[in-house]
Amino acid sequence: MAKITASVFTSHVPAIGAAVDLGKTKEPYWQPVFKGYEYSKQWLKDNKPDVILLVFNDHATAFSLEMIPTFAVGCAAEFAVADEGWGPRPVPKVIGHPELAAHIVQSVIQDDFDLTIVNKMDVDHGLTVPLTLMCGQPEAWPCPVIPIAINVVQYPVPSGKRCLNLGKAIRKAVESFDKDLNVQIWGTGGMSHQLQGARAGLINKDFDGAFMDLMIKDPEAQAAVPHINYVREAGSEGIELVMWLTARGAMSDLNGGPPPTVKHRFYHVPASNTAVGHLILENG
Ligand code: DHB
Ligand code: FE
Repeated sequence: MAKITASVFTSHVPAIGAAVDLGKTKEPYWQPVFKGYEYSKQWLKDNKPDVILLVFNDHATAFSLEMIPTFAVGCAAEFAVADEGWGPRPVPKVIGHPELAAHIVQSVIQDDFDLTIVNKMDVDHGLTVPLTLMCGQPEAWPCPVIPIAINVVQYPVPSGKRCLNLGKAIRKAVESFDKDLNVQIWGTGGMSHQLQGARAGLINKDFDGAFMDLMIKDPEAQAAVPHINYVREAGSEGIELVMWLTARGAMSDLNGGPPPTVKHRFYHVPASNTAVGHLILENG
C-alpha cells in the first residue's frame, strides 16, 4: 500500500529561482532565505520519497484564460519546464508517475471531485521553485513528481474547505494504491502578497503567523475562512495559501490518525513581494 508520510509547505516566489539560477544565494538579501532551507534539504535526503504530489497554482502559464481547470492532475510521463518569459529555468525536467496519477484521478473523481486530467503541461515557478529550495541544483530531481494544479488566477476559485477535502480524498486514493510507495504531498504558494493595484507590495506578518499556527494545530478552522478574508488581510495573491490546505488535508490527523510532528518551521520577510513561509510536517 502507498502511504503519505509527510507534507512540505513553502512559498514559491519566482525571484528565489532566479537567485539560484544566477548564483546569488550568498548575497546578503538572499542568504537568510536559503539558510531557512538548509535543514529541509538534509531532511529530504534523509526522508527521500518515492513520489511527490506537488500541489501548486499555475500562473497563466500552462493554462491561459482560454481554459481554466479548477483542479488539474498531471498524468503524463514527464513535464517540461515552462518558459515564463526569460526562457525555461535551467533545471531538470519533471518526471511524472502516470500509474499513481491515473489511480488518483480514478479514485478522487469517484469520490465526487471533478478533476481535470492533463496529459501535457509545462510547469512554472509554482512547481519548480519549491523543488529548487528543497533539492538545490541536482542533475535530476530525486523522484517522480505528480503536479496538481489548482486555479486561483481566475475567479471563481475553490474554497479553502474544498481544498482541504480534496486533500482528504487524495489521501484515500494514495492509500488504496496497491504498490508500496512512500509519498509526500507538498503545498506551495503564499504567503500574504498582492502583486497589483493600490495595495501592491502588501505583506501581513500577523496573518502569516496565525495561518502557520492554524496549519499546524487546527487546519479545519483555517479551511472555514472565506476568500474575502484572504483578499482583505493577505492581499489578492494570498489566496495561493489554499494549496497549503490541500496538502494539509492529506495528513493523518484529519483522517482519524494522530497529529503530525512539526519537523521544521521557517518564516522570513521579505523575498521579492512576499514573505517566505515554510513548514515540514511528518505523520505520526
Ligand atoms: C511573487 C510571488 C508569487 O507567488 C508569484 O507567483 C509571483 C511573484 C513575488 O513575490 O514577487
Ligand atoms: Fe504564486
